[in-house]
Amino acid sequence: MADIKSEIKKRRTFAIISHPDAGKTTLTEKFLLYGGAINQAGSVKGKATAKHAVSDWMEIEKERGISVTSSVLQFEYEGYCINILDTPGHQDFSEDTYRTLMAADSAVMVIDASKGVEAQTRKLFKVCVMRHIPIFTFINKMDREAMDTFDLLDDIEKELGIATCPVNWPIGSGKAFKGVYDRQKREVELFSDTRKGTTQGEVRTIDIEAPEIDEILGADAKATLEEEIELMDGASAEFDQELVSKGELSPVFFGSALTNFGVETFLEHFLQMTTSPLPRMSDKGEIDPLTEEDFSAFVFKIQANMNKNHRDRIAFMRICSGKFEAGMSVYHMQGGKEVRLSQPQQLMASERKIVEEAYGGDIIGVFDPGIFSIGDTLTSAKDRFCYEGIPTFAPEHFARVRQVDTMKRKQFIKGINQIAQEGAIQIFQEYNTGMEEIIVGVVGVLQFDVLKYRLNNEYNVEIRMENLPYEHIRWIENEEINLDKLSGTSDMKKIKDLKGRPLLLFVHDWSIRMTQERNEGLILSEFGR
Ligand code: G4P
Repeated sequence: MADIKSEIKKRRTFAIISHPDAGKTTLTEKFLLYGGAINQAGSVKGKATAKHAVSDWMEIEKERGISVTSSVLQFEYEGYCINILDTPGHQDFSEDTYRTLMAADSAVMVIDASKGVEAQTRKLFKVCVMRHIPIFTFINKMDREAMDTFDLLDDIEKELGIATCPVNWPIGSGKAFKGVYDRQKREVELFSDTRKGTTQGEVRTIDIEAPEIDEILGADAKATLEEEIELMDGASAEFDQELVSKGELSPVFFGSALTNFGVETFLEHFLQMTTSPLPRMSDKGEIDPLTEEDFSAFVFKIQANMNKNHRDRIAFMRICSGKFEAGMSVYHMQGGKEVRLSQPQQLMASERKIVEEAYGGDIIGVFDPGIFSIGDTLTSAKDRFCYEGIPTFAPEHFARVRQVDTMKRKQFIKGINQIAQEGAIQIFQEYNTGMEEIIVGVVGVLQFDVLKYRLNNEYNVEIRMENLPYEHIRWIENEEINLDKLSGTSDMKKIKDLKGRPLLLFVHDWSIRMTQERNEGLILSEFGR
């Protein structure tokens, strides 16, 4: 157990969240560079290698040059074993992006200094808040004209409802960017552009009280900094590790990923402030990786193999406790039997490799002959338990789907059900009718194309889709509710999921509140359990 414990303790498993173009890929690449996992900047740069290495077998990805699934990268840095979960952010934003956050122990939020909090960050942030995991902020692109620093922090606090605590403070931005002031050490880290370097490059630091500081920063910048420090000391929250751990206070760092500036400082502070693998809730209470010796994991993502001759899939699981060894047999709780975990894969920097062993905190992908579902638990513990399931996240796009050839009804139903089981789409039915009409809900519109392509390619079924105007879905939490009597708004539609649970679709978000007001005691939820 001692060995397992020390392996688990050195693990840091986190997700990076951001709005597209804020610099997530660049920052990830710099982490790998500092960790020595790659030796040249540019070798990960999403569009070229890493993202494709993960899923180069998927035609639709090749066609569009994007990645539909999220990847995991592992590397070592100063005694830590780091797992970075990539959250797809562009058009490929999907429910998987949310699920990835369920597998992380903390999140790094990358914000573009000229833009502040943007839509996609806001959505992902909600999931982090729901889980109360620590959230760290990296304000990127300081080498470009940035918003006022106080406004940026205000924006985060107001938009996301979380207190912030700047660990360092930027001195100017864009052409006038001089570096950052470290509040604790009371020294200035001077900006230098080392983007061309293949390694980190020298960072010069200088004490804020040093006589030469005026000359180095320039009198104006120095005066502004002093003013801002005074203001900040009065206005911002004190650093409090306990609040950080509970996800109530976000430490904020400034830098420029592209030029390597501030990345190492961030990484060092972050690794100390973040957490090793967290305990997880199960039906037998909390399972703590530092006391539970046996292997346990839950499936958070299923990736289909696009080779239609082999309808195999890869099930990605987050190991929560114990040690994994290739080929080991474990009990699959939902399947009710022992399974052998074969072909375990892990992504190291930019290549896939077979893993021989892995520990709590790690993510592995195993061969799935079609037996796993999202949220399933696997364990080798004698006293078996199931981890809390993964919620269903609210889709934002809906379409009515029909097969073109009515003779292919069976394949259509089979295909659409299998794709839904993988978690790529959610399927619903009209509230009052049977299966004739299927309504598909997706988190990102690309999933519609994936569905169409896959049904055609793998199941030989052509479909027609009619987009529906709904954008909001709510699960009804009340056990006893008579849907016939529920009085909604004119833009509302009653539907049910495959388990027969009632749901409501809305075109406008204000209708949600109105419906709640009209039906006393009605509890609507954004996450399905
Ligand atoms: P993403 O994964 O969050 O979508 O963002 P990504 O890292 O791909 O970065 C988006 C763009 O922003 C890239 O430029 C990248 O070079 C640039 N960028 C990232 N960090 C910084 C920074 O600190 N400062 C500045 N000035 N730019 C930054 P691009 O032109 O879209 O791509 P490329 O042609 O450079 O590859």
